[in-house]
Amino acid sequence: MTRPWSPDSWRALPIQQQPAYPDAAHLLKVEQTLASYPPLVFAGEARELRRQFAEVTEGRAFLLQGGDCAESFAEFSAAKIRDTFKVLLQMAIVMTFAAGCPVVKVGRMAGQFAKPRSANDETIGTVTLPAYRGDIVNGIGFDSASRIPDPERLLQAYHQSTASLNLLRAFAQGGFADLHQVHKWNLDFIANSALADKYHQLANRIDETLAFMRACGLDSAPQLRETSFFTAHEALLLNYEEAFVRSDSLTGDYYDCSAHMLWIGDRTRQLDGAHVEFLRGVHNPIGVKVGPSMDPEELIRLIDVLNPANDPGRLNLIVRMGAGKVGDHLPTLIRSVEREGRKVLWSSDPMHGNTIKASSGYKTRDFAQILDEVKQFFQVHQAEGSHAGGIHIEMTGQNVTECIGGARPITEDALSDRYHTHCDPRMNADQSLELAFMIAETLKHARG
Ligand code: PEP
Ligand code: CO
Repeated sequence: MTRPWSPDSWRALPIQQQPAYPDAAHLLKVEQTLASYPPLVFAGEARELRRQFAEVTEGRAFLLQGGDCAESFAEFSAAKIRDTFKVLLQMAIVMTFAAGCPVVKVGRMAGQFAKPRSANDETIGTVTLPAYRGDIVNGIGFDSASRIPDPERLLQAYHQSTASLNLLRAFAQGGFADLHQVHKWNLDFIANSALADKYHQLANRIDETLAFMRACGLDSAPQLRETSFFTAHEALLLNYEEAFVRSDSLTGDYYDCSAHMLWIGDRTRQLDGAHVEFLRGVHNPIGVKVGPSMDPEELIRLIDVLNPANDPGRLNLIVRMGAGKVGDHLPTLIRSVEREGRKVLWSSDPMHGNTIKASSGYKTRDFAQILDEVKQFFQVHQAEGSHAGGIHIEMTGQNVTECIGGARPITEDALSDRYHTHCDPRMNADQSLELAFMIAETLKHARG
């Protein structure tokens, strides 16, 4: 028998990774204000994403999920949103066209602010302060005033998310994502690279195809002029998420309307913990990060709590083992899921198991390891006869130097040139496109 659920039933359970707000009354007031505001998405959209997730789970589409590790209040502009959106469109079109596989696009955008941390405090020299937990909680500056959790930041995150989502909707449906614009999605700074040539060749073939379709009178489908784009973030700050729970007027089901999809991080997926409790009761498509410490039996129990109806569109397992560890852990997890007949969407996060420290002190990731983890993910699924359904990546359309390697290699020495991330190192547009071409090749062979 399942226990009753309510939007606040998580509050009775142990919870990890929450800020210690000094003023509980202030926090409560902000929660009430948020709950009175309009939601960011509506239930019908989340249901549509569930339908698309089911297509991926059944092997008929591929999931591309990407964006910042942490959005920030300082780096908030139309250009930044547009450029990340452009790279996601490019990646999606490469996979769709080169591999003949529909791509479901989900941004780590318009709400990806809160960060779990490996330690509660940060020490520099002799000074110890509370850790930075994302702009929605406190400031990144290393001074005691910045690090105090401030509930007003929840409101700022909400307003920034609404503005970001508004622009993303306009880009997706207002002509920017029109396939006839495929050449214009390329960013200026990758204009002279080998990858840009490869992309333009593909874009030329798309142009020819579109011209042919026009000549045949087949160019009126709306899919050629607009695209669907969804948002997702880690449901970490449950005070914020609870404020956006709404009961759908059509079905009576609860949805967390702060984003289309929410996921549980690798540090907060305890079976008896607050995060699992909260997400089990909302009907959005959801994700769970699966790191090397996941046990196969624990995974089945988690699946049963989060997806008791075994719905193929409900649950995305986001595997983040680290290059070299996929073969040790993933096969046993897949086998137990298959043996128990559970339907899940498997995707690969090749970022979070591959974070290293450069000799200069920068937190970075080696692009070769990122590629390697994705390749291993595909190989294991092929060997097990299961479906490698998608990727989940940290990337940006800005010309950053945060991950080393790539076709136009970023060296350790160059990391300091344009290292802007507020949390983990992201792939830049070049590296993201290179990954997309590799995946397109793999998908093409897998699909015959
Ligand atoms: C993240 O996606 O930014 C993250 C913190 O991931 P994980 O929970 O897998 O460590
Ligand atoms: Co991250």
